[in-house]
Formats: sequence, C-alpha cells, structure tokens
Amino acid sequence: MLVEKRVLLIIGGGIAAYKTLELIRLLRGQGAAVTPVMTKAASEFVTPLSVSALAGEKVYTHLFDLTDEAEMGHINLSRVADLIVVAPATADLIARMATGRADDLASTLLLATDTPVLLAPAMNVRMWQHPATQRNLAQIQADGACLVGPDEGEMACGEYGLGRFAEPAAILFAIDAMLSGGPLLGKHVIVTSGPTHEIIDPVRYIANRSSGAQGAAIAVALRDLGASVSFVTGPAAVPPPVGVTVIRVETAAEMAAAVTAALPADAAVMAAAVADWRVANVSDRKMKKDGTGKVPALKFVENPDILRDISASTQRPKLVVGFAAETDDVLVNAQAKLARKGCDWIVANDVSPASGIMGGMENAVTILSGSGVEVWPRLSKVEVARRLASRIVEALV
Ligand code: C5P
Repeated sequence: MLVEKRVLLIIGGGIAAYKTLELIRLLRGQGAAVTPVMTKAASEFVTPLSVSALAGEKVYTHLFDLTDEAEMGHINLSRVADLIVVAPATADLIARMATGRADDLASTLLLATDTPVLLAPAMNVRMWQHPATQRNLAQIQADGACLVGPDEGEMACGEYGLGRFAEPAAILFAIDAMLSGGPLLGKHVIVTSGPTHEIIDPVRYIANRSSGAQGAAIAVALRDLGASVSFVTGPAAVPPPVGVTVIRVETAAEMAAAVTAALPADAAVMAAAVADWRVANVSDRKMKKDGTGKVPALKFVENPDILRDISASTQRPKLVVGFAAETDDVLVNAQAKLARKGCDWIVANDVSPASGIMGGMENAVTILSGSGVEVWPRLSKVEVARRLASRIVEALV
C-alpha cells in the first residue's frame, strides 16, 4: 500500500500518455496521492481535464503561471512528493534531463528536485536504440534516476521492438519498490530463465523441458525486494513477470550476448536450462527425406558456457549463482560444478522424471557454496525463490 505517499507524476508528450490515466487510477487505488504535471505536448494526447478528474487534483502545466507560483512555487512543487515519476518519458524529455535544461515546468522540476526520480520511457525502437538516447540514458542513470521498462513489443507506430511503455501495473510495482525502500533498491540483478532452442533447420529445433517457472519466481522475488531485474528468458512456457526488464532470446548464443549486454550487475542468477551444444551444420532449408532411408547426421559444437564466462568476466557481478539440474549423483555433480564454473553458489536439484520437478510447481534444492552444503525441504518454486532472494539480500547488502 502507498497510503500517505505522494507521487509527482510528470506526463510526457507521447501516445503512451493515455496509459498514465490507468496508472493514476492504480496509484490512487493503493492510497497514494498524485500531483499531475503535464508537458505542453502531453496535453495533445490526453486532456488535463481527464488527468485532473482521475487524480482528484489540479494539473500543473506552465512554468510561468503566476497563480501557481503564488500557490506553490515550482521549487516547492518539486519537493512535496516522495517520488517523481516521469511517464511516458519521451526521448526529448530524457535528452533535456541529461543536459540539465529547464525550459518548461517538467524539466525545471526535474532539475530543481532532490527527490528520487523514476522514468518509464516510451518511444519508437529506432529512437530508443539511437546512440544519443542511450548516451542520455546512461547520463541520467549516473545522475541517480531509475528506469522501469521499456518493454519489447508492438508499438502504436506499427513497428515492433524495444521502446514500448511498461505496463501500468509494472510501473506501480517499481513505484512501490522505490517508496517502500526494499533492501535491494538500487541493485541490478540478471536472471536467466527457461530453455534455449537450438536450431536444426528453419522449422526444427532442439529444446528441453524447462518451463521457466523457477526463474520467473526468482525474478518476482527479487523485484519485490526492490531490485531492478534484467530477465533474460528463452522460449518458456511460463510468461515473464511484470515489473522486470524482459529480454527474450531463443538460442544459447543469443542468451550469452544478452547477458553480456545487461552487465554490469550486482548479482547474476543463472536459472536457465541452457543447451550445452548447438547444431554446427544448420540447414537453411527444411531437411527432407529423400526416399532412400538415409538419415541426416547432425554435427554439434559446444555452446558458450554463460555461467562460467560471467564468473570469469572482468565485469563479474559480486554474486554469481548457478543451477545444477541433475538426474543422478546430484551432490557430487553439483560440487564439481561449483568448482568448475567459478560461481559463488550452486542451487542443485534432482530433475529425474520421478521427482516431478521439471515442469512442476515444487522444487527440492540443495545450496552449495564455499561455506558448505544446505539441504532445503521440498517447497513451492515461489517459496524457494523467496528464500533464495533473502539469501541474496544477505550477500549483497
Ligand atoms: O553444465 P550445466 O548445464 O549442468 O550447468 C548448469 C548451470 O550452468 C546453470 O546455472 C545454467 O544456467 C548454466 N549454463 C550456462 N551456459 C551453458 C550451460 C549451462 O550458463 N552453456
């Protein structure tokens, strides 16, 4: 709940502005007070009247509004809130923040404030990817701003990619985490999850039975403790959680590249079931029977070991957690894996079909680390995730 919390909501000028109406409704439903500020462009997308009606408060729009200055100077306005949320944060608003401009009410408030700032960016994928935007984002993050999203998906402009406004429910989670001051606030954790698909030809692939349930539960548990989570997921059966940055990949090679791109991080939890090998002789056409009874011969090459590589990286996170899914000699194999991979902990489990763990809702894990072996009872995957997340708090904070 956000009772007695005040959010200063700066609405930027993008088509996603209409979604802030839902965000206001969610915030008020949690008991928060919302002071809305709109840029000039924002009022081209949603009317100040709708915003004001939902917020139950006056909307601030102009820097040189004398009535407002008498009522509440712009400096005061920037200080009354527990959190400033910029949604949608357009490329232009981010650029103005990065250079310290103060040429309208929104940018002036952002320059004048000492209150934490959360941005929910939304823009076309090319604008998001442009080096100028990425430079500006790096700058404002270095200045202390936090981000939620953007998501990958279809955009109002008809294109597809990264830049889509995070769902209002996800923004609410991020606001809640910042205001309730979770112990992992300000920490960035990479979580890998799900299976990988290794391509054979345009229609076939090699997969495994991982559902992604344990990885998703870990991402949720870390998110709820305030962490900013990069969730790198293969094609999993379980949908990715809201309130985390989702990076979808298909192959182990793509997962390795996505993990590297998400660095630096304070911790990495590698729960994905990564294929050890990929097909070396991938066919660019669908393979066909030729009627002679001849079967195709697949050749394999080893995939990059993401866990081992991140453990040896110059950008190694402080804490690296690996998983060991074993069907036999669980402890012996997990102990060997801890040494071979160079990670800090191994979460070992028995995935033999009799255990019902792979694809199921429960897990029975053993945690191996430099300080010993700990056997946990059979628990729901959600509970395993919660316990693991609180261990991660102890290791990082
Ligand atoms: O070697 P094995 O696959 O059993 O190790 C399991 C652990 O290593 C898991 O944490 C998994 O995410 C990670 N792994 C990886 N890259 C691979 C293979 C496994 O990161 N290519």
